[in-house]
Amino acid sequence: MEYIVINGEKSLKGSVHIGGAKNAAVAIVPAAVASGGVCVIDNLPDIRDVRNLAVAIEKLGAKCQFLDGNTLEIDASCINTHVADYETAINMRASYYLLGALLGRFGKAEVPMPGGCDFGYRPIDYHLKGFEALGATCVTEHGWVKVYAEKLTGANIYLDCPSVGATINIMLAAVFAEGTTQIENSAREPHVVDTANFLNMMGAKISGAGTDIIRISGVKELGCGRYTIIPDPIETGTYMIAAAITGGDITVTNIIPKHMDPLTAKLRDMDCQVEEGEDYLRVYRTGELKACDVRTSYYPGFPTDLQPQMATLLCTASGTSVVTETVFNNRFQYINELKRLGANLKVDGRTAVTRGHCAFTGAQVGATDLRSGAALILAGLAAKGETTIGNVYHLDRGYECFEEKFRSLGADIKRIEKDE
Ligand code: UD1
Repeated sequence: MEYIVINGEKSLKGSVHIGGAKNAAVAIVPAAVASGGVCVIDNLPDIRDVRNLAVAIEKLGAKCQFLDGNTLEIDASCINTHVADYETAINMRASYYLLGALLGRFGKAEVPMPGGCDFGYRPIDYHLKGFEALGATCVTEHGWVKVYAEKLTGANIYLDCPSVGATINIMLAAVFAEGTTQIENSAREPHVVDTANFLNMMGAKISGAGTDIIRISGVKELGCGRYTIIPDPIETGTYMIAAAITGGDITVTNIIPKHMDPLTAKLRDMDCQVEEGEDYLRVYRTGELKACDVRTSYYPGFPTDLQPQMATLLCTASGTSVVTETVFNNRFQYINELKRLGANLKVDGRTAVTRGHCAFTGAQVGATDLRSGAALILAGLAAKGETTIGNVYHLDRGYECFEEKFRSLGADIKRIEKDE
C-alpha cells in the first residue's frame, strides 16, 4: 500500500507549472473515438484516469501511443467493437463519454454503469433522456448501459440542471445526428468549451459552447487533427490554496486566469493577495486570513471540485465561515478524516460551518475521493508534525506529479510503501 507522508508547517514558495485539465482530457480522449482517423492530443495530464481511458479505447480496437507523457496519438479508424471493457471502464466516471461517442459514430454503444468519486447519488438520466430525444433506445440492465439507434435526428433538449456530463455526452452523439440539435440549460464549464473546440477542429459544427444554449448541426463524418488541452483550473486552484494555507508565495503558470475568477474573488475576500498576469497568478498573504462564506455552483460559480480544499483553508481563517454545497448531495464525507487533523467543521445537510482559528496537527488519515485527498494534503502541509495519507490512488486519478510539484515549492512530502 502506498501512503503520502508530509512534515508540515513549511511555507511554500516558488512557481508551479499547471498541467492539462483532467475533466477536458477525459472528455476529449473518448471524443477522439468519434473521429474516423488519427488525432494527436497535446497537454494531456499524466494521470491515472487518462491512462485508463487510453486502455479503454485500445480495448475497443483503437491504436493509442503516448508520444511523451503528455501527448497521445489515437488512431480510431480501427475500432471494431461498440462494447467497452468492463474492468477498465468501471474504474472511472468519464467512461460514460464512450456512450455518446460510440452511439454517434456507430449507432450503438454498451458501457458499464460509471464509477468515479462517490458524492452520493450520481445518476445519468439526463444523458439517456438526451440520447432518447435524438432517437436512441436506452436500456440499463445487469450493471450495463446499452444505447442503440437506427438513425439519430437533431432535437431540442432541455436539461433540468446544467450537467457537465450530460451536455458533453449529448454533444458527442448529436455531432452525427441529421439536422440541428439544441441543448438548452447546457453546462458552461471551460472543459465543455474545450471539448466542443476539439470536435469543431475535426469538422463538427457546434456553436454556443460556453453559453447556456449549444447548437449542433449534424455532419456525416469527422476528420482528424492535433489539439492542445486547456490548463486545469482545479489543479491551479489547489496550488493557489496551498499558498494561502501555508502562508507562502506561489505563482501558478501556464494557466487561464479568467477560469480562476470565482476562487480569486474568494481569496481576495479573505485578504489574500492575488496578482494576475496574462497566463499566471501569484498568490501570497501578508497577515491573518479573514473568514468568508462559499456556495458551490455551476460555472462561472464557485466549483464544487474546489469545495473540500476551500473548506480546509477556511478552518484556518479568523472567524466563522459557512460552506454550502449545492451541486452534489453528499460531498462532505471527507470532513470526518479532516477532523483527525483538527478541523473544526460542523456539517448539517448541505452546509458546513467552521469557527476558524484551527491549527492542524498531523495524524494518519485516508482520502475518500480525489478532491478530498487534495484537502488532506493541504491540511497536512499546514499541520504541525507528521501527516500520513492513505488511499493515494484517489489522488493519482487526477493530480499529475503532485509530490514532485509540492516538493519543488519547498514541501517535505514523500510517497512510501508499507505493508498493511
Ligand atoms: C463533472 C465532473 C466533476 C464535477 C462535476 C460538477 C467530469 C468527469 N466530472 O461530473 O469533477 O464535480 O461535473 O462540476 O467532468 N445529474 C443528474 N442526472 C444526470 C446528470 C447529473 O441528476 O443525468 C445531477 C448530479 O447528480 C449533480 C448535478 O446534476 O447533482 C451535476 O452533475 P454533473 O455536472 O453531471 O457532474 P458530472 O458530469 O458527474
